[in-house]
Amino acid sequence: MLPSTIAIDGPAASGKSTIGAAVAEKLGYLYFDTGVMYRAVTCVALFRSIPIENENAVTALAENAQIDFLKPTANDGRQYTILADGKDITWDIRSRAVDANVSLVSAYAGVRRAMTQQQRRIGLQGRVVMVGRDIGTVVLPEADLKIYLDASEEERARRRHRERVARGEPVEFEVVRQEIRKRDQIDSSRAVAPLKQADDAIYLDSTGQDVPDVIVRVMQLIDAQRRK
Ligand code: DC
Repeated sequence: MLPSTIAIDGPAASGKSTIGAAVAEKLGYLYFDTGVMYRAVTCVALFRSIPIENENAVTALAENAQIDFLKPTANDGRQYTILADGKDITWDIRSRAVDANVSLVSAYAGVRRAMTQQQRRIGLQGRVVMVGRDIGTVVLPEADLKIYLDASEEERARRRHRERVARGEPVEFEVVRQEIRKRDQIDSSRAVAPLKQADDAIYLDSTGQDVPDVIVRVMQLIDAQRRK
């Protein structure tokens, strides 16, 4: 049977969002990038000058903030539109300030509880490609197909660096590499729902592979599952 819930996990800049969105489109499924939720909470906390180290305040924000996920409202390369308290924060959530703080926010147990509940509710409706760090392990352990998408640190830093430069944010490659290393380290060592491959996930290494090649590989995995 065609897998209805597809979980794609992996480290920062491993290509999860690009691949997840493309696969969802091919299948006519909902594409849900769960990292966006942690980014939106971080972004709103920074806007409101809530100290990121204040776990209680950040958790309360995660539980109460009005964050909406809409279909794209502008034709500027976005995959979706994110509103927080009515303000469009779609690009703000990709800022370096958010990158630098999101791993800390997403390590808070209360923040994860609030986000995981919402993600699970959406995931259980099916026909969804859900992308994150803990989808196959915690959010949807019953997912029909689980993929762990990886790439070398060097390659992931190169991709993120290219994105930044294309957005008009000049930054040294080595700085981006250090940021990615730090984020990986926090994401995989946190106490609650750390980044790790689920036992029954299929490992895909996208180092040196073009996006279309990885999409073909994932579609083959989906097809193999369908034939079972
Ligand atoms: O995939 P991303 O870079 O947009 O994710 C941003 C951060 O959110 C990442 O550093 C870890 C966290 N995250 C998480 O803890 N669990 C998820 N399911 C998705 C993201």
